Amino acid sequence: MKPLRIALTKGRLEKDTVELFEKIGYDCSAVRNKGRKLILPVGDRIEVVLAKAADVITYVEHGVCDLGVVGKDTIMENGSRFYEVLDLGFGRCRFALAGPKGKDFYEGFSEKTVASKYPNVTRAFFESKAMDVRVIKIEGSVELAPLLGLSDGIVDIVETGSTLRENGLEVKEFVADISARLIVNTASMKLRKREIEELTAQMEKAARPEGGAKP
Ligand code: PRP
Repeated sequence: MKPLRIALTKGRLEKDTVELFEKIGYDCSAVRNKGRKLILPVGDRIEVVLAKAADVITYVEHGVCDLGVVGKDTIMENGSRFYEVLDLGFGRCRFALAGPKGKDFYEGFSEKTVASKYPNVTRAFFESKAMDVRVIKIEGSVELAPLLGLSDGIVDIVETGSTLRENGLEVKEFVADISARLIVNTASMKLRKREIEELTAQMEKAARPEGGAKP
């Protein structure tokens, strides 16, 4: 039987997932000593694929990976043509609208400009308020956009809040809670149901030993 393939978002979510696998009892030594290798075994029934967040979704949607671990932020931005089966509880942060400290984002009548790495999330947020805004896509360090005068605000991930604080910005409004999610390809869910359910149950137990709510 070929191993179950699970795409992990490189970086923090990868690290937290490997710790979770070790808690379950899987041998993660290959991932711990990975060097530049991108496909690695975990135990003898799982293979992990290390990818960037949006690519985790692409590989799972196309069925070349059976499962994936990705942030809810990436899911909200890129849609969900897959099953989201588990909130893993780590990678917690939130989406927020932020802007220059002490300035009312909504003041005045002119159309607002908002910069974000997440244009779809930003548009959906303002559509839910029936408000027209101009959205400008920025690839990183979005906090620069209002500082340089490109935008009135940003929609971005806030974790500790220090990036905002150190750049004279503040949260204006909460948009959504974010955490890492386990996602499953729709065909794999049918074809390898038993193995996927078993792994999901193990991950759920290790992530939330006292039990807890599903997403
Ligand atoms: C994220 C996010 C904020 C920062 C928030 O950026 O876009 O800039 O972290 O974290 P904090 O509230 O703890 O300060 P990331 O480090 O991923 O870099 P990027 O902006 O270049 O993508």
